[in-house]
Amino acid sequence: MVNKHHITAATFCDGAAILRAGGLVAFPTETVYGLGADACNTAAVNRLFAAKGRPSFNPLIAHLATAEGVFEIAQETPSSRLLAQHFWPGPLTMVLAQQAHSQISTVATAGLDSCAFRVPANADAKALLTAFNGPVVAPSANPSGQVSPTTAGHVADGLGNKIDLILDGGRCQIGLESTVIDARGAVPRILRPGAITASMLAAVLGCDIGEITSAKSDDAVTAPGMLASHYAPHHAVRLNAAQPRPGEAYLGIGELPAHDGPCLTLSASGDLQEAAANLFAMLRDLDRTVIDGIAVAPIADDGIGAAINDRLRRAAAPRDDPTAAACRDRV
Ligand code: TXA
Ligand code: MG
Repeated sequence: MVNKHHITAATFCDGAAILRAGGLVAFPTETVYGLGADACNTAAVNRLFAAKGRPSFNPLIAHLATAEGVFEIAQETPSSRLLAQHFWPGPLTMVLAQQAHSQISTVATAGLDSCAFRVPANADAKALLTAFNGPVVAPSANPSGQVSPTTAGHVADGLGNKIDLILDGGRCQIGLESTVIDARGAVPRILRPGAITASMLAAVLGCDIGEITSAKSDDAVTAPGMLASHYAPHHAVRLNAAQPRPGEAYLGIGELPAHDGPCLTLSASGDLQEAAANLFAMLRDLDRTVIDGIAVAPIADDGIGAAINDRLRRAAAPRDDPTAAACRDRV
């Protein structure tokens, strides 16, 4: 049916043709690489779930080239319109009700009436979505439960033999997955923290930041992908470590302490945006070294720091705990 392959210089039209034929195309976005499939083609969506090893009850995000495209199939609310004007294209995903004529596969939404929508800002993502001219579901392009990919090489490492094409757009600029909100009400609820923070949402909506609630980690139904162990490297992760122990690798921020083992700094200057962009790639790099575990420095919880800490908590969550193991299988 389609060419099977790794990183190529294929055009966006080739990518769109593969999607139309029911294939799987990995593509860059400003957050992380996504694994795309035609959202309206149930066989393609099933193939996507199988390639990732993703459980069928965890719904996907539908990506479109424009906000107008989203509101042709999603039910607009006053808050979603306002947030779309400010944050799309960009790293915000909104869960909305669908219009009756939406053709998005119920497999993609895990049977929910709602669907998550995003308009990415990355130029390559936009070119692919424009060429395809319809909704493309795209979870992060990694095997379920593992660290999300921020380069085409990461995608090839995890899924290279299971997908049809990888569009190589270099490193992702933000490096953490989009903020996911439930935008059906007047005030949004944050289901997954990301680069768009609660204070940014509150500023646009003119509401108090305290009115914007966040899903709790035991809130399985509203936030199916928000639980316990996820984004997990193979080695154990120890958080809030001012100093590495002998035998550990160390992921710091700012200046690094003296240490005999592998050591990386997320940002030499302590910049949280730079730290977010480096997080997943550095966790992967340290995971490849032969070590007892990865110790991670405390990270300030301001701005995108809250999203970094969210991902780190999941990376460190116990994997043998039955609740964590069940949760781990969710994304
Ligand atoms: O930045 C991103 O969001 C990337 C890029 C590729 O766009 N995509 C991504 O997709 O991170 P994924 O599948 O790894 O995460 C989607 C999250 C999951 O936590 C999922 O449970 C949640 O969105 N989600 C999707 N549809 C939902 C719905 N209808 N209601 C509640 N949560 C939903
Ligand atoms: Mg994911």
